[in-house]
This record gives sequence, structure tokens and C-alpha cells, in this order.
Amino acid sequence: MSQDLFRAAAEAGPDALFIFSNVRDPDGTLVNLCFAELNSQAESLVSMERASLIGRKLTDVFLQKQNQGLLRRLLDVSEKRSPLELEVPNSNRQVKARWLRLHAAALTEGVAVWARDISAAKKADEILADHQTEVLNAFRMSALSEMASGVAHEINNPLAIVQALTEHLQSLSTEGPIDVATLLSLSKKIQTNVERVAKVTRGLLAFSRDAENDPFHEVPFQRILDTVLELCGNRFRNNEVDFQIKPFDQELMIQCRSLALSQAILNLLLNAFDATQKQLQREAQRWIRLEVKDLGNHVSIEIADSGPGVPEKIRRKIMEPFFTTKEIGKGTGLGLSAAKGIIEGHGGTLIFEETSPFTLFKAILPKRQDSAGTIEV
Ligand SMILES: Nc1ncnc2c1ncn2[C@@H]1O[C@H](COP(=O)(O)OP(=O)(O)OP(=O)(O)O)[C@@H](O)[C@H]1O
Ligand SMILES: [Mg+2]
Repeated sequence: MSQDLFRAAAEAGPDALFIFSNVRDPDGTLVNLCFAELNSQAESLVSMERASLIGRKLTDVFLQKQNQGLLRRLLDVSEKRSPLELEVPNSNRQVKARWLRLHAAALTEGVAVWARDISAAKKADEILADHQTEVLNAFRMSALSEMASGVAHEINNPLAIVQALTEHLQSLSTEGPIDVATLLSLSKKIQTNVERVAKVTRGLLAFSRDAENDPFHEVPFQRILDTVLELCGNRFRNNEVDFQIKPFDQELMIQCRSLALSQAILNLLLNAFDATQKQLQREAQRWIRLEVKDLGNHVSIEIADSGPGVPEKIRRKIMEPFFTTKEIGKGTGLGLSAAKGIIEGHGGTLIFEETSPFTLFKAILPKRQDSAGTIEV
């Protein structure tokens, strides 16, 4: 009776079940496993009937050369009596599944193996991972393309100056020898403008790659802001947004992944900018204020804007990935969550300050990575 109950339970379960007995050589060494029992799910997984498997060695049917590693692990389960859980990509044509999840447990003189076809779940994971990569790329692209017009302006201005200066040089040289002081002064101006272009393109290149795994370096905080302003300062000016940075200690240093941190601050500033563009009254002053405070072991960065604020009912959600109130195709909803991720990756915190009279986001970061996690504010 109990035999029947066990069989019924094995048949009712979701998994294919194989029970093997140990095969030992004459000196007692475990060398193989032999099919002792299986349920009908197992029969259908391997497209073979129970009667043609019982009594045969595992390596005579499956796990020939290409799968010796798996045989070894199953034998280990049998010897050490420790359970095994693993996913195996299936290269064996006799088995229907592309991916199998195996659970194995030792019996007195054998092993029980439960096998589940997880190909569909794997496929879904792959699709999701592809989709996430696409969205992340789209996010990077949209952040870049948003900056592109500002950057084009940043490059065009110095290029126009370089062009005018070289034309001036050429016309001077047709008039006779140029005096050294003029030559020096003109070439210095050209150099300054070329350097300006180089700086912008360096900034762009840096932003187009993944900065999240860079090592930590100690840098002046001002340098991080410089990188950010290279990329968005122009947009603020062109749209008459008054951007103010409260003066702070120029010696202030921070140990960070500078590029990632620049990206986080850029995301916060772009959000602040977007908010100022939503202000209804045309005459209203549009401003963004950035304040950096030295808190001893930590630095706080506050970004405030004159925009309409975050409605109370969405405040809980704004830092969730993909949450956006922008039109479809405009925002990815990844800006804040990426900023939060980067700041937390530095042992810091990003908060939306609800009590402030205007929209205020505040990031608190440890100055050094060895003091991360001991926020004293
Ligand atoms: N300074 C702000 N003022 C008002 N609302 C804000 C501000 N910053 C963020 N939000 C709200 O949080 C949402 C999520 O911001 P997040 O940066 O993650 O995505 P997004 O700005 O919508 O998209 P993307 O960053 O791709 O442009 C925004 O859609 C907006 O509703
Ligand atoms: Mg954003």
C-alpha cells in the first residue's frame, strides 16, 4: 500500500524523478549509477520508456563523454550525502529540455534526482535581460541626445573663434611679416579655444561609457562639478535658468568614482531643469541652486529648483526605476534611480526633502570610503 502511495506521489509531483542505485567496482569504488526507478514525467523528459531504462547504467544511456563532470557531481552526492542543486544547459538530443534544474539527494546506496524543465523561465529571463539592456542603452542615448544640442553649441562657439583667428592670421601674413607678440597672442587664443573643444569631447567620451565600476579616487569636489557643467551649463544659460552654485571650500576633496558621481549629479540637475520648464507663469523666475556642505566625514550636495514640485501622491515612487511622469518616449524614469544607485554605491544616501518650501534633493556622501556608513547628520 505504502509503495502505491509513494508511486502516486511521485507521479503527482511537478518534477521528473529518477532513482539510481550505486554501481561499485570490485574494490568498492563508486564508478557509476544505475536506473532503479523513474516516474512518467521522467519518461517523457527523456522520451524513453521506464522498461528500457531500468537496470541500465547512466553512462550507457546518457552522460557519455561530454558530461563526465555531471556524473562526477552525482557520484559525489551519493558518496558525501550532501544535496546538489544545479542548472544544466542541455546538449543531449535525447532530452527534450534546453535547460534543466537538477536537485539530487543521496539515498542509502543510490541517488534520487529531481529534474525540472526550466527552459521557458530561462527564455523569459533572457528576454527580460535583453529588454533591460535595451532600456539602459536608450537611457544613455536619451541623456546624451538631450545634451547634444548644448554640446554642439559648446563646440561651435570656440570653433567659430578659431576660424576667425586663423583668418585674421592669414590676412595679417599677406600684409607683410607679423610681429612676434601678435603671433604669440593669436596662437594663445587659438590654443585656449582648441583646449575648450578638447575638454568638451573628453567629457562626452567619458559619459558614453559605463562608469559604475571605476575605481575610487580622491578628487577635488569642484572637478566633479566642472565635468557636469561642461555638459549642462550651456543648456541652463540658453533657457534663461538662473543657475547658482553657493561658494564652497575649493580644497574640499572626496574619494569617489568621479565619473559616476558626475552622472548622478547631472541626472539631478537635468530633473531640476525639466522642472523649471514646467513653471506656468512665463514671467516667473526660473532657478536651480546647488549647495555643497562639508559635514566633517561627509559631504552633502543639495539641489533645489523653482519648479512646481513633486505631487505628494507620487513622492514614494519617484526613485523607483522606470517611474516617470514624462510623456511616452521622453523620459526613461531611470535618472533618479540611477543617481540613487550611484550614491548608495558610495555608501551615501539620496533623499527628497519633503519639508523644504521648494523642490530639494539632498545627497549625503562619505568623504572617504573607509568612513562610509557612519553618517553623523
Ligand atoms: N526636480 C524635480 N521636480 C519635480 N519632479 C521631479 C524632480 N525630479 C524628479 N521628479 C519626478 O520624478 C520622476 C522620475 O525622475 P527620473 O529622473 O527617474 O526620470 P525622468 O526624469 O522622468 O526621465 P529621464 O531621467 O529619463 O529624463 C520624474 O518624471 C518627475 O515626475
Ligand atoms: Mg530624469
